[in-house]
This record gives sequence, structure tokens and C-alpha cells, in this order.
Amino acid sequence: MNEDQARQRIEELRTEIRRHDILYYGDDRPQISDEVYDELFSELKALEGEFPQLVALDSPTQRVAGTPLSRFETVNHEAPMLSLDSDQDPAALRRFDERIRKALGEDRELRYVVEPKLDGLSIELVFEDGRFVRASTRGDGLRGEDVSANVRTIRSIPLRLRDDGLPVPHRLSVRGEVIIRSREFAELNERLMNEGREPFANPRNSAAGSLRQLDPELAASRPLEAFVYDALHVEGASFASQTEVRQALAAWGLRVSERVRVASDIDAVLEYFSEIEAERDDLPYEIDGIVVKLDDLADRERLGSTARHPRWAFAFKFAPRAEVTRILAIAASVGRTGVVTPVALMEPVQIGGVTVSRASLHNREEVARKEVREGDLVRVQRAGDVIPQVVERIEEKGRERGPEFQMPASCPSCGTDLIDRGRIQHFGSRQGLDVEGLGEETARLLVAEGLVKRLPDLFLLTTADLVRLEGFAELSASNLIRALGEASRTELRRLLYGLGIPEVGAAVARDLATHFRSIEAVRAADPEALAEVAGVGPVMADRIAGFFAEPHNRDNLDELLAHLTVEQSEPASSGELSGKSFVFTGGLETLSRSEAKALVEARGARVSGSVSAKTDFVVAGESAGSKLAKAEELGLEVLSEEDFRRMLGIT
Ligand code: IVH
Repeated sequence: MNEDQARQRIEELRTEIRRHDILYYGDDRPQISDEVYDELFSELKALEGEFPQLVALDSPTQRVAGTPLSRFETVNHEAPMLSLDSDQDPAALRRFDERIRKALGEDRELRYVVEPKLDGLSIELVFEDGRFVRASTRGDGLRGEDVSANVRTIRSIPLRLRDDGLPVPHRLSVRGEVIIRSREFAELNERLMNEGREPFANPRNSAAGSLRQLDPELAASRPLEAFVYDALHVEGASFASQTEVRQALAAWGLRVSERVRVASDIDAVLEYFSEIEAERDDLPYEIDGIVVKLDDLADRERLGSTARHPRWAFAFKFAPRAEVTRILAIAASVGRTGVVTPVALMEPVQIGGVTVSRASLHNREEVARKEVREGDLVRVQRAGDVIPQVVERIEEKGRERGPEFQMPASCPSCGTDLIDRGRIQHFGSRQGLDVEGLGEETARLLVAEGLVKRLPDLFLLTTADLVRLEGFAELSASNLIRALGEASRTELRRLLYGLGIPEVGAAVARDLATHFRSIEAVRAADPEALAEVAGVGPVMADRIAGFFAEPHNRDNLDELLAHLTVEQSEPASSGELSGKSFVFTGGLETLSRSEAKALVEARGARVSGSVSAKTDFVVAGESAGSKLAKAEELGLEVLSEEDFRRMLGIT
């Protein structure tokens, strides 16, 4: 294929991919399977790899995350992003309507547009001749943070507006909301907690936190979505009403709410409100009320704005689903499966029509993180259909606080040792020592029968001990003993995971293992040395060091090690690149990314998506971009594809 042919094919592919992006993300109406989509995408990527001079910033391939930023630039909005007058009292809504009628003439017929008020993060999106050029947060309303690099990764935002129905304006600035759906929010939090990281308090915070951080790669990994609801500034198109604006936004491929309705008077608005409120818990995303807007844009102009908000719009909000109350006690509650959970028992409060008097605090770490104690004043919320949660502690000056919460040492209902039960299960889990047959029920039994009080006791078990347990027979008993024996020869990363060190999930355990290569080195490392490890931040480093400083943990580990043979995670022979980190940028000619990744990982190195001072090697292929620039700026070692092959000994 020559360049002209390639150019033509690339254009075709981009148009086709954009069309499917809009069908998928904008309209929720995909027309092709994921496989067919992936084929189109791969073809485009391959062609762009072959003809790098044809890569354009608005190509669908360019959503890929760039290098982390060191800070956000401040940018001016195309027009002020005002806030909304709001209230939860219907009387205030009626007064809003009366003010408008009075100003426009009592006998005029009015039309309101009503729509859900999305509870996310407000952003401005700017398009020039249909191309996405910038996105910024609301900031102070006049200036916000330039979050373009993160927003580019949001697939419901077209990088190029669709122009096959309606011509695109020369310049367009729209306002919208970035959200994370309730289900995705729950999954994200689950993931964060599994990795030992702090979960977000609510979907709104998760969207804001994902957008207002500096690493586009992280943003790309978060399930962000965007809805648009208003035109802030338009050059090259004009509209008479919000209804027209909305139709145009949809025609250009932007995602608009499907729940918009036109209401001819305030009673119709209230009716819409009741309908939406009844559905609130079933909606896939969080909303905190409705927004009522005058439809006619000329009328809006006549009404104008106060310094802070337009006179033509009003947010009619749901009663808040957060209230303040006091923790009466923190109880350890034993669940159906035998897992023990600390629960805050609170003075009952009404939250959104439901009386709330208890909220789970999940686990010991969560209690410590929220710093709550008995007697504390706390903010409690109900989000979506999610069960009540304690959001934060409210500081009360001068009040004497209760003692710190201690997980009871034994189960309040059966008297078994609580901490060890969970520990044992974690220790034997798939990513831990992977002891076949050491599940929840067995762990519970071992503890309940007093056979295992601490982890090292596991290795003192005999078949005879086990056969007298309920549910065990000769065979299952000897199987477990054998499984323990096999697991006692283990890898460092498994041991590090299995120990249940705070903050250390499977990924961190692997990074620690690759970096330090022995348990002695890990346990001797001070926080500074720990923070050297890619993926370990200062807070995490402190907690890991804290774990190994604890005498009880040290003793436990010593005893445990007497029973274990711990191998380095990567076999020493092929670990010549052990502990090194690689970043790939640009296209490789002779290897796919996944092949290259597998090759370095097999030699004990790790691959990261972004360049930092901790990166050892940057492999720069065809049309390498910002990562290469960053690598050069940091003075890192940059390898060509040929250098890289030579380094690995593949020629
Ligand atoms: S219209 C000047 N429509 O609510 C009025 N705002 O509390 C332009 N919001 O900052 C805003 N959903 O971010 C409008 N359907 C919707 C909305 C909406 C959420 C946000 C918006 C604003 C906040 C005000």
C-alpha cells in the first residue's frame, strides 16, 4: 500500500470506528460485535504504525493514555460556568416559577425542560471544527483545571464530532457531567480494597478522583462516562431553544440524558420529580435531584443571571441522604459465613425516608482509616441502593473521646480466635500459599477446635488431628496435610501476599518480591527503601515497615520460616533483569507488545505503562511520543528495538 492508499483507508477506518463508538457509547445501540470492532481498530493501528506521518490527534487510536502530568494547567472557560440556584422545598420551586412568570409576563405560555441532575463532576468540553481540543473542570466558574489528557480517555466523548446529519459549528463549548455508574463504582471499590487501597466514599468522589489526578493511564483504567446537557458557547450555529440544543448535541454524537422531558407548568415539573424520585434507586447512576430549565433561549437572555446563577434554571433536589448521628457502640458482628465485621450502632436517624441505626465498618483497617470510636459524631449516608455507610467522623472540639476500637480476640458467638481465622484463609488463598482445601470452613474449624492459633501452627498439623474434625475423613485429612507440605515450598511473592501485610495485595507482593528477592531483605527494609519499589508509595511503605516492626509479627514470621522454603519469585537463572522496570513506547516492528512484555517478565523485569524516575529502560519503537520525551528529560536509558533484542539475546 502506498501512502495515498493508506491515507484513504485510514480515513475510512476512522470514520467507521467513530460511527461505532457513537453507536456504542453515545446511543447504547452497538451494531457490530466487539471482535469486528477490534479488527477495525487493529487495522487502523497497524496502518498508523506503518505510516506514522498519518497519525492524527483525533484518531480513535489516540485515546491511549499519555505520560503523567506534573500538574494541571489552569484554563479560562469559553463562558462562565455558573452554578445553579437550588432547594429541596417545593415552595422554593414555585417561587422560582412565579419570578419567571412575573418577569416575562403573567399570561405567557412557558415551557420548562426537566432532566435528572447527575451527581458527578461538572466539566467543559471544547471542540474546534468538530475536533475535541480541551476539557476542564469547573474550578471557580471562570477558570478550571485542564484535564484534557484524562478526558480524552473517556470513550463516550467523541474525539471528533459526527457531521453527517448536522454540520458541526466552528467552535463549540459544552457543559456536561463526568460520572461513574453505581455498579462500576462498586466494582472499582472492590478492586481498590482487594489491592489494599482506600475505597472512594461515593460514585461522585470516584469520578472526581479519577479525573483530577495526573496520570491519564489511571484515568483510562477507570470506568468514566460523560453526559452533556448544555451549550456554553457556540460559533457557527444558532439555536432557539434548549430542545434544539439537545437535539444538536445528540446529532453530533455527544451523549445526552434519555430522561429529558418538556413540562408546561410547575405541576408537571413536580410530577416528573416524583416519578424520578421513585425510580432513583433503580437508575444506573446517582442523581441528586432534577434540573428545571426554561426552554426558550431568548427568554433566558431576557432573564439573565445573578452573579452566581442563571435566573432561568433551578435545581430541585432530593432530600439529602446523609445525616449526622452519634455512634453508640462498635460491635463485632458474626456473619453467616463466620466472617466477623465491626458494625457501628448509632442513634437512629431518618435518611431519605429510611431509619438508619447501623452501618458496617467492613474491617479493622477501615475502622482505623475512618478513625471512628464509640461516642463519635459521624456523617452517615445512603447512596443509591447501597446500604448505609459511615462517611466521616465529625470533629468535636474539647470532647473526650472513647477508647480506640479493638477487634475482639475471640468470636463473640463461638469463642474462636477471630483474627487468625481470616488470616489463615488469606494465607492459604490462591494468590497466597495456595493450599488446596484450606478454605473458609476448614479455617474456621481449625481455629474453633484450637488446633491453629497462629499461622505457624498450620505446619504442625497431623492427619490424626484432622480426622477428628467434623467433615474430615482419612482421605481429606491426608490431602490437606499433603497440600500444606507442597505449599511449604513457596515463592516469595506468595509468602508476602499470604502474610496479610496491610496494603500489600498480589501486585505489590510481586513487586516487592522482584525488587528485594528475599524475605530477609524485605523485612529489613526501611520505609525509604520500600518506597523505591515501583508501585509503593510513602504511605504504603510506612505501613509495610510498621508490620515488620511489630514484635508479634516478627516472631510469627520467624517461626513460619522454620517451616518454609521460600524461593525467589523469578527463577534466578532467567532473572537477569530482575527488579528492572521497562516502559515500551511506539510500535515495535518484530514483536508485539504482549510478546515483548512476556519476554522481559520471563527475565524477572516488570513492565509499566508510564515513565518515571523509577523506570530503568525505555524501549522506543516507531513514532514514539511523549513517553520518549519524558525519558530523555529524566535522562533514562533509551533502547531501540535492536538494542532491546540484543539485550535479551534474541537476534
Ligand atoms: S444545567 C448554569 N443540567 O449541577 C446551569 N446542570 O448544582 C448549567 N448538573 O454545576 C447547568 N446535572 O454540574 C445542568 N442536567 C443538568 C445537570 C447539571 C448535573 C450539575 C452541574 C452544576 C450542578 C449545580
